[in-house]
Amino acid sequence: MNSTSRITLAGILTGAALVLASTSALAVDADAAKALARQNNCLKCHGIDKDKDGPAYSKVAAKYKGKADAEEKLIHHVTSGEKAKFPDGHEEEHKIVKTSPPNDMAQIKNLVQWVLSQ
Ligand code: HEC
Repeated sequence: MNSTSRITLAGILTGAALVLASTSALAVDADAAKALARQNNCLKCHGIDKDKDGPAYSKVAAKYKGKADAEEKLIHHVTSGEKAKFPDGHEEEHKIVKTSPPNDMAQIKNLVQWVLSQ
């Protein structure tokens, strides 16, 4: 192997490693997230780009953009039944996400990451 081909090979390997690293960091399963949102009627109160009773997910994503604790906050929001304020001013406990099997953190995390990527 001459030195030129060795450099090229190193370049290809570095490129491949970068691609792998970036895809695993962003590995949101959008189909699974949407299916879970649909099963839980999240989309009845939230549009992707449209406000309904709850804020559009694109707005939620914008609000939390760059915040290190975004994921943690939203996981708490969809698992704790904390009070949610509706546009007409009344408050009720926010819907708690149901997964099968119950409390599957991987599914809940995926859903929250999907919301944050809108
Ligand atoms: C009955 C209507 C309703 C349903 C169903 C509902 N939400 Fe909400 N959601 C709201 C309202 C209203 C707010 C605004 C809460 C506030 O600002 O106090 C909200 C806020 C949110 C937020 C933003 C929280 C924040 O800190 O800004 C997220 C994320 C969210 N909901 C996700 C979900 C998910 C995921 C589901 C399904 C498991 C869901 N919602 C189901 C009404 C609903």
